[in-house]
Amino acid sequence: MQNRRLVPRKLIKASSLDLTKFLLKSKPKQIRDEIPTLNRFGYMKSEHEYFGNKFIELAKITKKQVLEIGPAYGWLTHKVLEIGAAIVALDISKEHLEILVKEAPKKYLENLYVYHGEFPDEVKFKDNSFDAIMASRILHFLDGVTLERSLDKLHNWLSPSGKLVATNCSIYHSSVKGKMSKTFQERIANNERWAGMTTNNDFDRIHDDHSAYFLNCFYKEQLEELLPRHRFKIEQINYFDYPKDPWPDEGKGHIGFVATKI
Ligand SMILES: C[S@@+](CC[C@H](N)C(=O)[O-])C[C@H]1O[C@@H](n2cnc3c(N)ncnc32)[C@H](O)[C@@H]1O
Repeated sequence: MQNRRLVPRKLIKASSLDLTKFLLKSKPKQIRDEIPTLNRFGYMKSEHEYFGNKFIELAKITKKQVLEIGPAYGWLTHKVLEIGAAIVALDISKEHLEILVKEAPKKYLENLYVYHGEFPDEVKFKDNSFDAIMASRILHFLDGVTLERSLDKLHNWLSPSGKLVATNCSIYHSSVKGKMSKTFQERIANNERWAGMTTNNDFDRIHDDHSAYFLNCFYKEQLEELLPRHRFKIEQINYFDYPKDPWPDEGKGHIGFVATKI
């Protein structure tokens, strides 16, 4: 029955939603290689890169649903649906989720679930719910304390040997490196745990219309210390630039990882 509304903090099957009740804000036009979000949480990419492809591969082999946190308009969620896998799309923005549902391939709508809520504190799933979780360019919107709490929740939600895949802005990203490079290096030298923390005053002004209040940028050694402390074994971790990025950061603008629950 297609008579349900998208309500907060509930897992909802997309095919049960009444699309005529959607506000359906229109999706902004693409800028460079990305589409701005409607809530100043940066942009959505729509291009294949290693970590997104890895998540698609994991979705292909699991019999369970997978989870994408912060999908925005759902480019990657739609790719997962297109291979016949089932997925939960979880986002803080109701408008993003409405567009994601509206634009989802109709043939696969039965496999799509949505969850409107703020990760981690407004979100509940049973332990061992997922074999794979993707957090693409969303963990950097969490302060350090919240991130540590999030990693423990993600650990609980993953099944034994389940995998967490994530991509994040690094301290070498063009939006912050201009103003913050020296500060980052000083903080790292002083062993500050969240050395990549910035406020929007520190960003390149070109992002003024679309940027969040802060960005917690990461670097490799920091994640190599953090993830095992939260019972994740790192399978792969590396810096990268998105293939169509018009301002590549010498291959270091983002940092991605695949980590297995231990
Ligand atoms: C930068 S976009 C990333 C979009 C896409 N995953 C990508 O990699 O291009 C961040 C997305 O995360 C969502 N988001 C930000 N903070 C969130 C939170 N605490 N809980 C759930 N979603 C969040 C935003 O609404 C937005 O859709």
